[in-house]
Formats: sequence, structure tokens, C-alpha cells
Amino acid sequence: MENSQYEERRQRVAAALPERKLDCLLVAFSPNLRYLSGFTGSNGALLILAERSILFTDPRYRTQAAQESTCKIRVAKGALVLDLVATLGKLGVKRIGYEPARMTCDAFESIKSRLPLRASLEPVTGWIEELRMVKSTAELALIRRSVETNSRAFEQTVARVKPGMRERDLATELEYRMRRLGAEKPSFETIVASGVRSALPHAQPTAARLTKGDLVVVDMGAFQEGYASDMTRMLSVGAPNAKATRMYRAVLEAQLAAIDAVRPGVTTVSVDRAARRVLAGYGLDHCFIHSTGHGLGLEIHEPPRLGKRDRRRLSPGMAITIEPGAYIEGFGGVRIEDTVVVTESGCEILTPTAKELHVV
Ligand code: GLY
Ligand code: MN
Ligand code: MN
Repeated sequence: MENSQYEERRQRVAAALPERKLDCLLVAFSPNLRYLSGFTGSNGALLILAERSILFTDPRYRTQAAQESTCKIRVAKGALVLDLVATLGKLGVKRIGYEPARMTCDAFESIKSRLPLRASLEPVTGWIEELRMVKSTAELALIRRSVETNSRAFEQTVARVKPGMRERDLATELEYRMRRLGAEKPSFETIVASGVRSALPHAQPTAARLTKGDLVVVDMGAFQEGYASDMTRMLSVGAPNAKATRMYRAVLEAQLAAIDAVRPGVTTVSVDRAARRVLAGYGLDHCFIHSTGHGLGLEIHEPPRLGKRDRRRLSPGMAITIEPGAYIEGFGGVRIEDTVVVTESGCEILTPTAKELHVV
């Protein structure tokens, strides 16, 4: 990512400080910190003021911070918070915005107890997340690459899957391949759930072996250059039975209907409803127990959410997942998930992997 992009983002935040009646904004939550500074270290805090930004970190990240960010950098000798508070005192700032949803009570108390009397911590919720929702062209290129890596890892692995393989070994193979193809790491713990366990939407892989007659949920994602991908595909060990085939068709139709509903200006709940309506036609709506999708980017789950109670309107440049599912306890489950990007006229499906039930 170009440094100018981080600088523009900080300028945008700095320019909006007065309307929020803030003298500065303090950002320590890693995805927001990275979004605004480029810094990827595990310990940092960014102070955005009207005229400049200061990035606080510790000696381990001195070199890395200077390489990654054009912010003025302060390397703390001891705890970051001491340096930070000393700087806040010297600058004489009064109203300090902070992210309560992203800060521990401990950090909050530690800063608050050391601030000069005239200074106050003012809660700011969702501001940077709001900015992050609409992706730039450069961010979309990174998400596209992450999606491609993820799909290639899936395709290379599935070509070698055999009945009798353990869920855990399949998950390991998927993660190994995504790293070989350029990912830093999985964007969440890879889900491989077979047989009745496929009815658990967020199952962890076990030592269970893929057995004839099993449906297998494979839900996987990569982080590549910091950006997430997310995809779910289904395997069937041997030919699926009539009930599994019908469930698969229902979820696929629901997924296609939801994708069809994605366009700028529509509410997220209307996309969710499009999926639920199809499943209701199959009598399976009560088996769909999570939301239809979520935004993704520097986090695997970020706004907007596409659920029953989410009324945000979609805008071009939002990267979201579409992932309806149906889960029947004691039988199994089906989920199909793509990463898509909202365009001026609808959406583009980034995930290139075919959506038929892969029989192994
Ligand atoms: N496995 C996480 C998700 O699909 O959202
Ligand atoms: Mn997923
Ligand atoms: Mn997802």
C-alpha cells in the first residue's frame, strides 16, 4: 500500500476532529492502527492531532515502524502509556478521543489516572471501522489476491482428498497450501466438519475420518498482505443422498438469491431476507441460524453485518461475504460462502471456485 494512502486517511480523520469536538484521536486497536499508519507491529498507539500524527511503539519495533510508516515515531523506554500520557500533557490537549470498544479497562484506567485534570477521554465508537467499510482500489486488489490464494489452496487440496482422511489433516493441508501460495496465515481457524458435525456452524476439525455418506463443510480463509478472504465449500464423501442433495440445492439457491440482491443502496437486511425467503420455500429457514454475511478486510469479520437486524445500506467498494447455511442436528449441515464486492450496478463475485458439491 502506498504511504500516501495512509497519509490521506489520517488527514481525513484530522480534518473531522473539530466537528467531533476532539483535539486528538488515540488509536491502539491493531487493524485501525494499521489502516491509519501502515504499522503492523503488535504494540503501538497512534495519536492523530490536527497538524500531525505520532506513532508510539517500543524498541522492538523501532526499525519496522520507520520502514512501515511516515508518522513521527516515538519509541518508549518503558510502558507506552507513560510516554503517551507525557506527550498528551506536553501538548496540552483537552478532549482526547479513544475507542472504548477496542481498549481494555486496564489501559483506559491507566491513561485516565495519569491525565492532567483538564484533559478528558471522550468515547468514539465505530468511526475508523466506518471508514474501513468502503475499500480503496488498492485494498480490493489485495482482497482479490487473498481470495485467489485461498481458492487455489482449496482446489489443490481437494484434488488429493480421499475418504478416510482425518478432518484435522485436511485442515492442516489447506493451511499449508495457503501459506505456500503466499498467505501469511489463515484468517480464522479453518473449519472442516464432517457427517453430523457439519451441523455445527463453527466446528473445529477433529480426528474424525471422512466417511462414505458424509457431508463435509470446509470453511477457510487467508490473510495475505493483511487482507482477509473467506470461502465455504461442501464436499460429499461418495454420492450424496436425496436429503443432502435437496439441502444443498436449497442453500445454493439461497446463496444465489442473496448475491442477486446485492447492489448499492439496498439494506443489508434485504440481502439477508433474500436468502431466508428461498430457504423458507424449502421449509429450511429455521435451520439457518446465523447471518447471511459480513464485511471483511483487515479483519475477517468487520462491518457491515448482513443479518436480520442490520439496516445499513450497501455502497460500491464494500467487500462482504454471502454465506447462508442450513443445519440439521443429528444429520448434517450445508453452507456455501463467497467473497463479493459491491459494484456500481450490483456485485462482483471474487471467489473463483466452482460451487457444485465436490464428491470425493
Ligand atoms: N468462518 C467464519 C465465517 O465464515 O464467517
Ligand atoms: Mn467462512
Ligand atoms: Mn464468513
